[in-house]
Amino acid sequence: MKLQDKVAFVTGAASGIGLGIARALAARGVRVMLADLDGPGVEAAAAGLDGAAATVCDVADIAAVRAAARATLDRFGRVDILVNNAGVSFGAEVGATALADWRWIVDVNLMGVVHGVETFVPLIKAHGQGGHIVNTASMTGFWAGLPGLSPYAATKFAVVGYAEAIRAELADHHIGVSVLAPGWVRTRIHQSHARRAGAADHEVPAVAETIGALVEGGIDPQVVGDWTADCIAAGRGYIFTDPHMRSLLDLRHQMIQADYDACARDPRFAL
Ligand SMILES: NC(=O)c1ccc[n+]([C@@H]2O[C@H](COP(=O)([O-])OP(=O)(O)OC[C@H]3O[C@@H](n4cnc5c(N)ncnc54)[C@H](O)[C@@H]3O)[C@@H](O)[C@H]2O)c1
Repeated sequence: MKLQDKVAFVTGAASGIGLGIARALAARGVRVMLADLDGPGVEAAAAGLDGAAATVCDVADIAAVRAAARATLDRFGRVDILVNNAGVSFGAEVGATALADWRWIVDVNLMGVVHGVETFVPLIKAHGQGGHIVNTASMTGFWAGLPGLSPYAATKFAVVGYAEAIRAELADHHIGVSVLAPGWVRTRIHQSHARRAGAADHEVPAVAETIGALVEGGIDPQVVGDWTADCIAAGRGYIFTDPHMRSLLDLRHQMIQADYDACARDPRFAL
């Protein structure tokens, strides 16, 4: 895809990876609508970018996403690229996780992506010139071996599956679909539970501390933003940003294949 003069809608764009993607797209001549729950943050982020605008939007709220889409059409007249990036995280212990926390993370990390796709796909289809969708998952959407992240992992595996499921369907409309799967990136994701409005539920402090240390030792979000823009242009289905995690992918595939082969060897399943 040629990026110059396209219009993009990017969620979670006030900070971290979303801001990195917004900056990278703007630098490539894309007009960007930056959307985020954090009003002052997203206004400040857009103010620094040529041809960009900002809208306050809670991706967990379908009415807010629809209003943000209308604001984007009013401002730019069309949408070509959708980046469903807003996400949250918290440290959890299996059997001791507040259901309110579960619902919060599902509403943002999974339903936020669904709201974006359901709202913007008709708008991209309407102009008939195709487009591209990036849904931000995580390496935790491919390998979930780190204790304390089960709700986060469940939402990110869902985002991977959802992206793969809509890819074939949207190909006929020339709408590409990528799933972004970063490793550790130096952002404020580990503070999302503490920043949550009216947060009364708890997270497990030891897990939160471990995740915080890994995030703070992560790569620069601008590197992720630039690579993501390049992968949109190249039409890549998977956008990985951490080449050091290959062994984790291999481990998971080996475990799946070993148990699949056990079934294939069992005479009860012979045709
Ligand atoms: N940082 C990492 O190590 C890492 C690794 C893998 C995946 N990710 C994913 O990257 C994405 C971006 O996270 P980040 O690391 O840049 O964190 P971040 O906290 O710096 O940025 C997330 C942004 O999303 C916004 N946001 C949160 N809830 C929202 C909502 N309901 N509606 C709209 N905006 C909302 C926040 O205000 C914030 O600006 C997330 O989906 C996250 O799961 C991050």
